[in-house]
Amino acid sequence: METTFKKMKHRTIITQENGRYFLTDRIRDEVNFWTTAQSEGIHPPPAQKPAPTDSRVIMLPGRDSWSIPPCDIQSAIADRQSHRRFTTAPLTPDELAFLLWASQGVRKVLHKAAVLRTVPSAGCRHPFETYLGILRVTGIESGIYRYLPMDNAIVALREGENLPAQLTAAARGQAFAGQAAVTFIWTVIPERTEWRYAEASYKVIALDAGHVCQNLYLACEAIGAGTCAIAAYDQTLLDDLVGVDGDQEFSIYLSPVGKIR
Ligand SMILES: Cc1cc2nc3c(=O)[nH]c(=O)nc-3n(C[C@H](O)[C@H](O)[C@H](O)COP(=O)(O)O)c2cc1C
Repeated sequence: METTFKKMKHRTIITQENGRYFLTDRIRDEVNFWTTAQSEGIHPPPAQKPAPTDSRVIMLPGRDSWSIPPCDIQSAIADRQSHRRFTTAPLTPDELAFLLWASQGVRKVLHKAAVLRTVPSAGCRHPFETYLGILRVTGIESGIYRYLPMDNAIVALREGENLPAQLTAAARGQAFAGQAAVTFIWTVIPERTEWRYAEASYKVIALDAGHVCQNLYLACEAIGAGTCAIAAYDQTLLDDLVGVDGDQEFSIYLSPVGKIR
C-alpha cells in the first residue's frame, strides 16, 4: 500500500464528514482484502522492534518474584480516576515491570510475528511499542528507554538530561508529564496492522490504544500509583524525544505515572 502520509503531514485533512466516516466501519466494504500484504504472502513485520546494537539492556524482575500486593478488580475499577499530581516517591523495578506487563506484556508467543498479550488487539497485530521517560525508578538511571516485552527487559536509548522539561514540552506544556516517576509513551508501527487490514487499520489501531492505557490505569490502582492519559501532545517533539521517524513509526498516546500515596 502506497503511503501518502509524509506528504500530508502538515495539512489539515480531517473534515467532519471524513472524520465521522472514519468512526464507522464502512471502510471494510471498500478494502480489497485479497490484495493486502498478508494475502500476497508477504512476511508479517516482527512483533517486537529489536534493541539497537551495542545498547544497554536491563532485565526486569520476573513475574514470579514480584512483590505486588493483590488487588480486587472491583475496587480497581471503582477507584480508577485520572491523576495529575504525584508524590516524589520512586517506583520500584517490580512495580515498573508490573505496569509494563499489564499494559503490553506477552501472554503467549505464537511465532516471531504474532504474540498474545495482556490486552486485546484487532487481528492480534499489536502495533505498539512502549517507550519510557524514566525520572524516578529505584536503581535505574533517568533517561528514555524502550520495553522489550518478549524479553521482559528494557533497553536504554538516551540519557535523561533535561528530561522533565522535554516531557512537559512534548505534552504541550502539561507539567505533570515531567513530574511523574515514569511517563509511558506509546508509538505505533502501522505496518503491523496494515499487513492484514490495509486501510481498515486506522480505526482499530486507535481502539487498540485505549485498551493499553486502561490496563495501565487499573494496574496503577494496585500499587498506590496514578496516571492520566494524554492525547494532546506535540507530534514532532514527542517523536524526536523517543527517536522515531514520524512516518513508519510515530507516537500516538502517553500517560505519566507516579505514586499518589
Ligand atoms: C483519549 C484520552 C485523551 C486524554 N487526553 C488528556 C490530556 O491531554 N490531558 C489531560 O489532562 N487529560 C487527558 N485525558 C484525561 C481525561 O480528561 C479524563 O479521563 C476525564 O476528564 C475523566 O476523568 P477520569 O479519568 O478521572 O474519570 C484524556 C483521556 C482520554 C481517554
